[in-house]
Amino acid sequence: MRPAEPSDLPLLGGVEAAADQLFIDRFQPETWDQPATGEWRAAQPGFLLVAGRPPVGIANVLVEVGSAHLEMLAVHPDHGRRGIGTALLEACCAAAAAGGHEELTLTTFANVPWNAPYYLRLGFAVVEEPTGVLARHLEHEQLLERYDARVGMVRRLGR
Ligand SMILES: CC(C)(COP(=O)(O)OP(=O)(O)OC[C@H]1O[C@@H](n2cnc3c(N)ncnc32)[C@H](O)[C@@H]1OP(=O)(O)O)[C@@H](O)C(=O)NCCC(=O)NCCS
Repeated sequence: MRPAEPSDLPLLGGVEAAADQLFIDRFQPETWDQPATGEWRAAQPGFLLVAGRPPVGIANVLVEVGSAHLEMLAVHPDHGRRGIGTALLEACCAAAAAGGHEELTLTTFANVPWNAPYYLRLGFAVVEEPTGVLARHLEHEQLLERYDARVGMVRRLGR
């Protein structure tokens, strides 16, 4: 796991789009939004980690109003289910803790096997009444509710 470098950035959208295929296969949507570019992600406050060279996995943590929020985690399906997602997540938790954060939040689908059930196994808990940044992310993602319930989750760091 390493911080994304400038040469990685043009490749990240393709990795995320390949990972999104898992959702497209499950939900069969009429359309699915194109992912943000690596360049856009790198310009946001926070950090952008990748796995592999060239990258096959990405994690993007936004740091805003003092909170650390996992905005995106994606692993190319050709490299899935080998622990890369878990390693990226652990690296994000370690980096957020090193930055003085007490928790890492995320939003995800409640019933998709590689979403909330996966994060529950990795030490995250559902936030029953989200507030602040977490509530704002859920609000922005309301359109995704047509596919499955969305939940906010948190993992306390420094355990
Ligand atoms: C979530 C994701 C990053 C996990 O990456 P990964 O490298 O496969 O993760 P790991 O190898 O650490 O763990 C895999 C676990 O996720 C779950 N999982 C992954 N793909 C799955 C699938 N197609 N069906 C069911 N469970 C799946 C399983 O629990 C699996 O463990 P197992 O292989 O022992 O059964 C990856 O599946 C992905 O990019 N998904 C699409 C994008 C996404 O959902 N991102 C998170 C949005 S909040």
